[in-house]
Amino acid sequence: MEKDLGNYRKVYEKSELSIKEVPENPIELFQKWFFEAEEYGGDAESNAMTLSTIGLDGFPKSRVVLLKKYTWEGFIFYTNYESEKGKAIEANPNVCLSFFWHKLERQIIIKGTCEKIAPNLSDGYFESRPDGSKLGAWASKQSTIVPSRTHLDNELKAYEEKFKGQEIPRPEHWGGYIVRPTSLEFWQGRPNRMHDRIRYELQENFDFKIDRLAP
Ligand SMILES: Cc1cc2nc3c(=O)[nH]c(=O)nc-3n(C[C@H](O)[C@H](O)[C@H](O)COP(=O)(O)O)c2cc1C
Repeated sequence: MEKDLGNYRKVYEKSELSIKEVPENPIELFQKWFFEAEEYGGDAESNAMTLSTIGLDGFPKSRVVLLKKYTWEGFIFYTNYESEKGKAIEANPNVCLSFFWHKLERQIIIKGTCEKIAPNLSDGYFESRPDGSKLGAWASKQSTIVPSRTHLDNELKAYEEKFKGQEIPRPEHWGGYIVRPTSLEFWQGRPNRMHDRIRYELQENFDFKIDRLAP
């Protein structure tokens, strides 16, 4: 079986990115693009981002997680600290995040270092989640092999019983990470594959160096 995708070709022409017009701080540009992705991107989850880590096996691995907050300091997501990604981050905190907003013909690639957020911040977010999600965080030993779907369903039921009529606390193995960016690249599709790429790189004095990259 084969399927040739060689003639899948799209002309990118929605917008452009000029180095003269970008703000000095990349988070400002992220905020503008994120707002536009939400307003005009037509994606149900414009906060879905691909997180890549270097695994204990030496291979990179990418998976989608949800951006839950961004600040001047960085980008926050929540997960199981004992998952495959959690173990990878513990061994090597250098990670990459990427967003692709196809309707806007935009990509953002963020390299940075990842660390756990303060437990009280994870508590705050955990409390805001629906009970079902809270129980899921207890019931799923993320990334481990499970014998069956029934096993998972039984685990969920067991935690439902355990916490019946009580506030469900945050498990210690579940919480947030912040990715503090060291490099952010904004990609805007342009005609003839002459795309705009503007990269911000964090300098020792905490300013960002801004460069245009060849497409
Ligand atoms: C749209 C979408 C959103 C997701 N959001 C999260 C998330 O916020 N946190 C999370 O741990 N996993 C999330 N996942 C699941 C991850 O992609 C992944 O399967 C899981 O975290 C286990 O990854 P790991 O075994 O590499 O640690 C999401 C998946 C999709 C498709």
